Amino acid sequence: MKNNSITASITAVGKFLPSKKLTNFDLEKMVDTNDEWIRSRTGIEERRIVEKGQASSYMSVNAFKNLQKNYNINSDEIDVIIVATVTPDMLFPSTACIIQDQISAKNAFAFDLSGACSGFLFALDTATRFIESGKYKKVLVFGVDTMSSVVDYTDRNTCILFGDGAGVVLVEPSKDENGIIDSELKTDGSGAKYLMMKAGGSLHPATHETVENKEHFGYQDGATVYKYAVKGMADISKEVSDRNNLTSQTIDLFIPHQANKRIIDSAAKRLGIPNEKVLININKYANTTAGTIPIALTEAVEQKMLKKGDNVILSSFGAGFTWGAIYLKWGIS
Ligand code: UT7
Repeated sequence: MKNNSITASITAVGKFLPSKKLTNFDLEKMVDTNDEWIRSRTGIEERRIVEKGQASSYMSVNAFKNLQKNYNINSDEIDVIIVATVTPDMLFPSTACIIQDQISAKNAFAFDLSGACSGFLFALDTATRFIESGKYKKVLVFGVDTMSSVVDYTDRNTCILFGDGAGVVLVEPSKDENGIIDSELKTDGSGAKYLMMKAGGSLHPATHETVENKEHFGYQDGATVYKYAVKGMADISKEVSDRNNLTSQTIDLFIPHQANKRIIDSAAKRLGIPNEKVLININKYANTTAGTIPIALTEAVEQKMLKKGDNVILSSFGAGFTWGAIYLKWGIS
């Protein structure tokens, strides 16, 4: 819990989704699957996919432009850029560096953070500490993934699950009592083998063999990840909510990572909150990995679901395993 005189707060949001849609019906023509199976098992109806030549920096820069349309922020003022992603444009330099250049944030230092589906929450918590230190005043936090670049579109177990997208938030010192109040982040690396991309790193650099063996695509043992995700996300959301004396009545909005509607429903049930207090957009965008939560936050603002002072719980579970929850009092009127 907070014991610091400076409170960090989200003061601006933005998102970008590519316009190209890949529907369940499109996938029916690519692999042995069907719309009914995908919708009933996951809640997904369609997902967005980038065009060739577009990647995580492209979507992030556009998410920032979307933020700038609605909020008055000059790129020169930005102190830090953190980009949560597991699909950087390239291994190095970081995608954050490319974004820093493209948005002309001349005074910012920038780095990527790899936390998979929990990447945005890990990055938001990191940004909170930067602000609370007093040294930095404006931190941009991106959550972005170009999952289409690592998905095997001949594997029905994974290709139905993912989409591309980016979200961004600006974090600043709060001018009132609203802001990021509490967080709990967890890792259990023994789960690494259940959700991974085997090759392309220093252990298995790209060879003809790794390409032939399809090791540059994401692999998931879906049933095992599902089991851990249901428990992990529900437990941590409840832990953070109980620790802050929140109840089903006082939680105004629950914004979970969008991996599977059934996982979201379990976590919401555990919090005892009704459907109208849960933000769900997995039907439109599928799992955009680090993108899901900042995209959902932006949609909550666009749909006027949030007002100043609202109690919001963000929650995630993903590869690593990594998981977490953040409690914030919404700071934008
Ligand atoms: O964000 C990162 C964290 N990731 C997650 O949280 C994802 C966690 N996992 C899941 O969401 C679910 O496990 C899946 C949606 C991936 C799969 O759902 P499931 O209910 O666990 O299905 P299953 O893997 O147990 O498969 C059931 C059956 C299998 O057939 P058999 O062996 O029972 O004959 C699969 O082969 O469904 C089959 N199946 C499919 N059928 C039609 C698997 N994928 C498909 C498909 N279309 N796309």
